[in-house]
Amino acid sequence: MSQLDGKVAFITGASSGIGRAAAIKLAQEGAKVALIDVKEENARDVKESIEESGGSALIVECDIAKPKEMEQSYQKVVDAWGKVDIVFANAGINGVIAPIEDLAPEDWDETINTNLKGTFLTVKYAIPYMKKHGGSIIITSSINGNRIYKNFGMSAYSTSKIGQTGFGKMAALELAQYKIKVNIICPGAIETNIGKNTFPQEDELEKIKIPVEYPEGNQPLEEHAGKPEQVADLVFFLASDLSSHITGTEVYIDGAESLL
Ligand SMILES: NC(=O)c1ccc[n+]([C@@H]2O[C@H](COP(=O)([O-])OP(=O)(O)OC[C@H]3O[C@@H](n4cnc5c(N)ncnc54)[C@H](O)[C@@H]3O)[C@@H](O)[C@H]2O)c1
Repeated sequence: MSQLDGKVAFITGASSGIGRAAAIKLAQEGAKVALIDVKEENARDVKESIEESGGSALIVECDIAKPKEMEQSYQKVVDAWGKVDIVFANAGINGVIAPIEDLAPEDWDETINTNLKGTFLTVKYAIPYMKKHGGSIIITSSINGNRIYKNFGMSAYSTSKIGQTGFGKMAALELAQYKIKVNIICPGAIETNIGKNTFPQEDELEKIKIPVEYPEGNQPLEEHAGKPEQVADLVFFLASDLSSHITGTEVYIDGAESLL
């Protein structure tokens, strides 16, 4: 018997990077996984790979920043599988990276709406289903905004990421009465496709960069950035009963990068 047999997991940003690896891991551990992403076709290969290994997956196309789409996504999952036990609120973007002076208000909104409002909506619309029997919510924040501030131009991103941590702690306390755990994971650099949603304004950034020399290499524990599969192992731990007394806490997964 696997840890997550009979559980239903709702995973946003499931077609790439950390969400993809977590979907595959939770399916290996027995959960049925709903793959939530902006484009249905992007998640097809994840669904195939889960099904080839004997698991169950369902793709739901949804922009996490749109309330109606999020509400309907939960309805589709519950229509198919009857419940939701695990929510991985993970989808996010880096967005436009620019000095505050140059950051357009609409670019600020895009990052905050996707990362922060999207997390609020993902948690909000899960509650009617999860409060019936409890469960686990895991939110992907970052070391940015929580522990490090050296990535110049990432003010909107960092604001969204520390916002997720505050929101996750509020939610942990509020939802404890329903036996719902809420934890926040804070990855350092992980090898994913987030670069496709990253738009640095290099020329403008030059003027705010402070010339600081860091020790050679940014990852004290390993010589390379983290792998999505390493984050997926943490998501599995927090999703399962192995973490039954852990809620309202952030867990750093960065090979000590944020301590430099
Ligand atoms: N990669 C890193 O170094 C790193 C470090 C710390 C935190 N994170 C966080 O990890 C999370 C996952 O990012 P990743 O690195 O795996 O990136 P990724 O780009 O590989 O995957 C992100 C997924 O989210 C989806 N997505 C983006 N906007 C969406 C929206 N509005 N609605 C639905 N889906 C949407 C994308 O389509 C993509 O499939 C993000 O919240 C990110 O901020 C990443």
